[in-house]
Amino acid sequence: MRSTVERLLREEEVRVVEREVSGRFELAAVTAASQKESDAPLLFRKVAGSRFPVVTNLFGSRARLMAMIGAEESFCRRWAELMRTAGAPPRLVEEPAGLEEIRLSDLPAITYSERDGGPYITAGIFLAKEPGTGVANLSFHRCQVIGDDELRIRLGSSHHLTQYQAKAEAKGEALEAAILIGAPPPLVLAAAAPLAHDEDEMEAAARIAGSPLPLRRCRTVALDVPAETEIVIEGRILPGVRRPEGPFGEFMGYYVEIGDNHVFEVTAVVARPGALCHAILCGSPEDLRLLELAVATRTYQALIGANLRGIIDVACTPFTMSTVVKMEPAYEGHARQVLMTAIGANHDWNKTVFAVDEDIDIGDFDDVWWAYLTRGRADGRAFVLPDVPGFYRDPMKDHWGRLAIDATAPFGRRAEFARKRVPGAESVRLGDYLAKSS
Ligand SMILES: Cc1cc2nc3c(=O)[nH]c(=O)nc-3n(C[C@H](O)[C@H](O)[C@H](O)COP(=O)(O)O)c2cc1C
Repeated sequence: MRSTVERLLREEEVRVVEREVSGRFELAAVTAASQKESDAPLLFRKVAGSRFPVVTNLFGSRARLMAMIGAEESFCRRWAELMRTAGAPPRLVEEPAGLEEIRLSDLPAITYSERDGGPYITAGIFLAKEPGTGVANLSFHRCQVIGDDELRIRLGSSHHLTQYQAKAEAKGEALEAAILIGAPPPLVLAAAAPLAHDEDEMEAAARIAGSPLPLRRCRTVALDVPAETEIVIEGRILPGVRRPEGPFGEFMGYYVEIGDNHVFEVTAVVARPGALCHAILCGSPEDLRLLELAVATRTYQALIGANLRGIIDVACTPFTMSTVVKMEPAYEGHARQVLMTAIGANHDWNKTVFAVDEDIDIGDFDDVWWAYLTRGRADGRAFVLPDVPGFYRDPMKDHWGRLAIDATAPFGRRAEFARKRVPGAESVRLGDYLAKSS
């Protein structure tokens, strides 16, 4: 992650905050304000009470994620190609010189939303091994910082780490894990992706990186972590222990209230010399891009697996609960079949699903909605599927039901819907035309 940030700094792509900020709301507030006008990453050089600088919004841009995986036109197509390549097993290296043992309280204490129960680590990637097979899994889980020795962590019911922990817990054992902060970007992407239960996510990270990841041994747990990770929190998830965690301002824009969640006992915190900390504002573009990666790649895979032709790419616009499929309709009704399969691809997301033509910018909801408004009737292209369960944490059934919208042009009439174009508009430099005062 450090070399990515350094390269972006050289390219003047990073917004640098030199003045000291408070970790309590101020860092999140500056991040949110910057994200409103720019997708640039931010580097906070000084967070009060800590010597570790913090990076936010590093993954908050589709263009940067495309570049990270070498995608030119379609993120999902490139991702699928990478996942088909042979995975290279990671290689173990000597512990790099200068690693330093620190305390959790040396890290910046970051509190994001007004009612949050305290400081949280939001960009921590859990590395753990399946207790039976030893397959490595990577996944994000928020951590409430309780003290130097304890984190309270949120494990969603369907996730692999939750299954590993349950398996260890059934034997009365703790599950060892390492929490990676500031891991190499390919690993961050692999952590966000929902790979199969038996698929080693460290190998998936190596496929994205194009080479095996150098690993080093942890100091207090039997795990190997990428040697270049900025900060590693080692420890174990305790069996049979649940303690209150929350409230926390979550990705949907609301608070989750206090709930009894898992407890992580910290056994060591190890930092590289001059370590950079990574922090993600939940629900912000950075969070949404990583969540999108998971939902969109899974939907793309389902569409390809169903042998539906003409699938170009998938995005979640304007937000994780809405899937947009870019396609080239090949026959009448094709888009409707795509919509049905896209809905079936995820049991908890996809509250709305759109199919659009190849010229629509699927990252721009205005463009998607424009296609629906201008390429056909309002009726007959929107279908409500009642009473389908949606987002899993939904006791009041507020997320039940699905809406599918075919926003492609009527089949066989695509040419009638060629966009008008103002020659030169894309390349105009307004500064060459506008008076200085305007
Ligand atoms: C920034 C971010 C934060 C996340 N926070 C949590 C969390 O607190 N709890 C959780 O269960 N999942 C969380 N997730 C989702 C999982 O990490 C993600 O779905 C992951 O792919 C699950 O991995 P698995 O399929 O290997 O279990 C988060 C995802 C992202 C991108």
